[in-house]
Amino acid sequence: MSHEIGAPQKRLIRALKGEVLDQAPIWLMRQAGRYLPEYKKTRAQAGSFLNLCYTPELAEEVTLQPIRRYGFDASILFSDILVIPDGLGQKVSFVEGEGPVLEPITRVEELAKLDLTRVVPHLAPVYETVRRLRKSLPAETTLIGFAGAPWTVATYMVGGKGSPDQGATKAWAYRAPDEFQKLIDLLVEATILHLGAQVKAGAEVLQIFDTWAGSLPELPFRRFALEPMKRIVAALKAQFPDISIIGFPRGAGSMAVDYFRETGINGLSLDTGVAPAWARRELQSLGCVQGNLDPLLLVAGGPEMRRGIEHILRELGQGPFIFNLGHGIVPQTPPDHVAELVDIVRGWRG
Ligand code: CP3
Repeated sequence: MSHEIGAPQKRLIRALKGEVLDQAPIWLMRQAGRYLPEYKKTRAQAGSFLNLCYTPELAEEVTLQPIRRYGFDASILFSDILVIPDGLGQKVSFVEGEGPVLEPITRVEELAKLDLTRVVPHLAPVYETVRRLRKSLPAETTLIGFAGAPWTVATYMVGGKGSPDQGATKAWAYRAPDEFQKLIDLLVEATILHLGAQVKAGAEVLQIFDTWAGSLPELPFRRFALEPMKRIVAALKAQFPDISIIGFPRGAGSMAVDYFRETGINGLSLDTGVAPAWARRELQSLGCVQGNLDPLLLVAGGPEMRRGIEHILRELGQGPFIFNLGHGIVPQTPPDHVAELVDIVRGWRG
């Protein structure tokens, strides 16, 4: 939704529109989660993980927990990328200690079981959470909605769980690319509907997570990661001209340049492996970059964490920039280290 006329834009949105701020806005991927004792409490109350995602009061509560502690510049809706397959009618569950489990879809005939018209009605509680958050968040905090990118969501739908090499999905994509494309096309449509509904409910910025983009070589990367993203961004910007979109093509390496240039996104989230000086030269001229402290430096804390943070700020702080991690916070992170990180970023004068 566009900001009110005359109201100053929020800091995160200004950075995404290309402004260089004197202090980098900061939020962290997976800022709500198991490293916080208050999250574990609400999570236990919810019973299952999906029940937490689909109970607006509880999802609102866990979204707000890291904002109360750290006052981040942005709040990311608490949900998951796998609510889309769940909404399409593929059975999804989260097994303690094992991660997500889905009934795998491996043949084009099985796509008939998926129902695009079910997505938005099934995910109504998620949009209700967004509406509540827009009322309960501090006025200066940006609300980020999100979805998984089609390729990454497909890897869970086809593999039936997380896998180290996305082998089952690549096997289908390489053996019968035109059939696999039908799954990607369905996910493009589902993602547009799901993100559009989040914007209508009050999400101000969108992030699209392509966690497994880096497992694809250039040609399939273009077909199954870059092109679908381009279609999603074009459709959302046609409906909501003011919306800012961040892409996270994790592990894309040098292909991140074309991804940034061609998809129409406003911001690119850098993974841990991207050298900040390379990102400054090759990516920051195209728009805002976000990143990219190693989440394990945040676990370690101390002087190595400080060195890592200052290195990123020195290299990227002179252009449009949002401080974040290179991937999500891990459960063993001490909450005090997060407070220290925020202090260092807020105290930085470049
Ligand atoms: O704070 C936030 O960032 C918002 C919520 C959020 C979650 N998942 C909550 C969650 C977001 C943005 C995600 C994205 C997500 N989910 C991705 C893309 C980003 C990434 O980390 O690469 C992926 C690949 C998933 C799929 C997923 N969800 C997996 C593989 C797992 C199990 C692994 C794990 O960490 O346990 C989940 C579960 C999940 N999603 C948890 C949380 C807080 C932990 C489950 C729990 O609390 O029981």
